[in-house]
Amino acid sequence: MLRLLPRIKSRASHTLRGFSSYPDLESIPVPESTFTRDKHTEGPISPSMVTESPGPKSLSHFKELAAVQECSSVHFFCDYSSSYGNYVVDADGNRLLDVFSQIASLPLGYNHPSITSALSSPEARVILANRPALGVLPNKDWPSKLDFVLREMSPPPHGEDWDITTMACGSTANENAYKAAFIKYMDTHRDGAPPTQEDLNSSMLNAAPGCPHLSILSFSGAFHGRTFGCLSTTRSKPIHKLDVPHFDWPMAQFPNLKYPLKRFEEDNEAEEASCLAEVEKLLKDSAGGVLSTKIAGMIIEPIQAEGGDNHASADYFRKLRALAKKYNVTFIVDEVQTGLGATGKMWAHEHWDLEDAPDIVTFAKKAQIAGYFSSKNMRPKEGYRIFNTWMGDPAKMLMLETILREYKKNNLVENARITGGYIKECLHALQKKHQGIIGRVRGLGTFVAVTVYNTSTRDKIIYNMRQKGVEMGACGAFSIRLRPSMMFTPEHAAEFLRIFDEALAEVDVVGECESWDGDWDGVEPRNLINTVTGEQGEFHPISDSTDGIAIAGEYLENMDEEIEEKAI
Ligand SMILES: Cc1ncc(COP(=O)(O)O)c(C=O)c1O
Repeated sequence: MLRLLPRIKSRASHTLRGFSSYPDLESIPVPESTFTRDKHTEGPISPSMVTESPGPKSLSHFKELAAVQECSSVHFFCDYSSSYGNYVVDADGNRLLDVFSQIASLPLGYNHPSITSALSSPEARVILANRPALGVLPNKDWPSKLDFVLREMSPPPHGEDWDITTMACGSTANENAYKAAFIKYMDTHRDGAPPTQEDLNSSMLNAAPGCPHLSILSFSGAFHGRTFGCLSTTRSKPIHKLDVPHFDWPMAQFPNLKYPLKRFEEDNEAEEASCLAEVEKLLKDSAGGVLSTKIAGMIIEPIQAEGGDNHASADYFRKLRALAKKYNVTFIVDEVQTGLGATGKMWAHEHWDLEDAPDIVTFAKKAQIAGYFSSKNMRPKEGYRIFNTWMGDPAKMLMLETILREYKKNNLVENARITGGYIKECLHALQKKHQGIIGRVRGLGTFVAVTVYNTSTRDKIIYNMRQKGVEMGACGAFSIRLRPSMMFTPEHAAEFLRIFDEALAEVDVVGECESWDGDWDGVEPRNLINTVTGEQGEFHPISDSTDGIAIAGEYLENMDEEIEEKAI
């Protein structure tokens, strides 16, 4: 791959930062949203740091924890009783603006009064004291609760067209969605007849025909969880997969779009067409017996999150859905991270305008309870086929009901759309100002990401942001993702962007620009994207020219185009 980027790098902190035609953040109006933040309860808009992060108290808790488990992933220790709204307070008394919100799983921020009051209700006391095995002894109000969820948050077509199955976490939701796809496939294969004695006997030996050679097709860069079935469909980073046996399931390339999208429209269309052709070939080979397995389902994230916030066009997804239908393959949309409104719609796949709804939509994270919606024809005929002890948790369901009421009261999905639009506009300005440091601004709603010059610089920016009182998340090899709560308003966004601007102005790029041509030497495994199992996007467009500076100039000219672009 090109190694011209060190040249860019050496200029990045001089020439490229010096481009003058970008708007100041202050000149971009902060829009009004659906509600204003409650500054009396949430406190000052600016975070406040009293120590480095992690501070001495966090470090001492690290020592305690390290005595009993590996804990190098921990950022710092929190004081949840003092955290409120969009601000997390750590063990040292630092108050950080949280734009990562517990890996995208905290829709109402910390200690939201409606949640704390729901959890101190007499109803909560009873369900916490008596956690039921929902598959056998649900409470008498359980059907009405599921009905409420179906009415308030099921994907289109709304309401009674869906079944709902509850689970504990994203991985169990996906894992059981795969089982549902396999069960459906074999039921169709047997023409609805019951399994034979041979089916039953061979299943006890982990052998066909009872345990058939079926598979779930997944995509390079995907993340669907870490349990065994899920892990076989996860393709984001080797660190998740290393040393663990996997099913030999097929993978297709997820489109690797170039930015700005307008400028690379033709390239991107060709890229998506070739990725779809690969999917169709795999489906054909599966149907024709060329593959060693039969593809029973495919799973896709509307935006590949953990793998680097990778997008594809609505057209690509529509065509993918049509292929699944054509080859009779269960189409599973993994909305564990994208679901519940962050993209400016309740479900990210609503942006695709599908003719045929997905067969299964999985959810977790912001919903607190996990599970999936499935079309009626996916329902297994026998009990205990999709089953576990708890099958979710009524306490988490109580939280979800409360969350959905708050969504409605303050129109939080619309808030995400407005706040996200503002964030993107400002990030486009910052991308111009800090050209050579960040690029590829992309996203829907507040589900936004930027690519950084390389992994070390990305990690340094995240570290420096934490010292300035902002907790953020990484994704992919060298991207930063925003996953704020649904209570994150344009006012919070303006504060975040002010600090981000400051951090970008101060950071010096470290090391060389990274591309993903299989040059893995000396890179930590957590940063690797395997070019066979999941290619990462490059830092477009600088890295695709022999004259980086000229392209950078052209890039700036094209930037305004992209701002107007209706993002995918
Ligand atoms: C898209 C997606 N699917 C599945 C999962 C797995 O969810 P969990 O960690 O709750 O098992 C995640 C987690 O980040 C995710 O982002």
